[in-house]
Amino acid sequence: MKLILLGPPGAGKGTQAKLLVERKSIPQLSTGDMLREAVANQTEVGKKAKAVMDAGNLVSDDIVNAIVSERLDADDCANGFILDGFPRTLEQASALEKMLADKGLQLDHVIELKVDDEALVERISGRYTCAKCGEGYHDKFKKPETDGVCDKCGSTEFKRRPDDNAETLRTRLMAYYKETSPLLGFYFAKGQLTSIDGMGEIAEISGEIDKVLES
Ligand code: AP5
Repeated sequence: MKLILLGPPGAGKGTQAKLLVERKSIPQLSTGDMLREAVANQTEVGKKAKAVMDAGNLVSDDIVNAIVSERLDADDCANGFILDGFPRTLEQASALEKMLADKGLQLDHVIELKVDDEALVERISGRYTCAKCGEGYHDKFKKPETDGVCDKCGSTEFKRRPDDNAETLRTRLMAYYKETSPLLGFYFAKGQLTSIDGMGEIAEISGEIDKVLES
């Protein structure tokens, strides 16, 4: 299964992608995670991307296309993958078409998660993750079972993303509406887009995604 999750910052792409990894045993390819790893490892790509990401702007198409193309060649993508946060521009969508065609592959689904702007702000401003295993949490919507202790690995260290603040979120939203939202028309015209309501409970949305995947 080859799938794209589309949606604005905070729509729940990463949350749903991680749940799909468990259900479908295919990898989540998050360009945001790949770029954050490059920043943490201070690679050449990371050095170029850091200031752009901290400001909430999009990293250049060339850089992102190259990391996705390399990642798609890995063995764990043989049975499919979930693209989370890629493509984000029409240029990236065209590059992806070429990458897949060159590998003899086709997309199965493009799923848009539709979420109100006010809810995005609330979701982003309350988000944090376990510093050790990366499990995602939210101050209001997804707290650890024991306060201050990660459900998954027991760590007591948590972190917040530097770009998860009100100022940067405005820039990220602008980038979404200007650069990424045209992809909805692009995939609709190709007959590949399904839009689902991303305003419900996390489990309800997973159920809606499963219905699309079974269709
Ligand atoms: P990236 O990491 O992709 O960030 P994003 O698109 O802004 O998306 P987020 O990770 O913020 O949100 P999400 O939709 O995954 O939401 P989540 O599931 O965490 O990109 C970061 C930066 O990298 C970009 O700004 C750019 O600079 C660069 N970049 C990345 N890809 C690029 C590309 N292709 N081209 C160029 N540049 C690129 O959910 C958010 C919170 O809400 C969580 O706390 C979660 O617990 C909670 N939540 C989730 N679902 C629900 C629900 N249904 N109800 C209540 N709470 C919920």
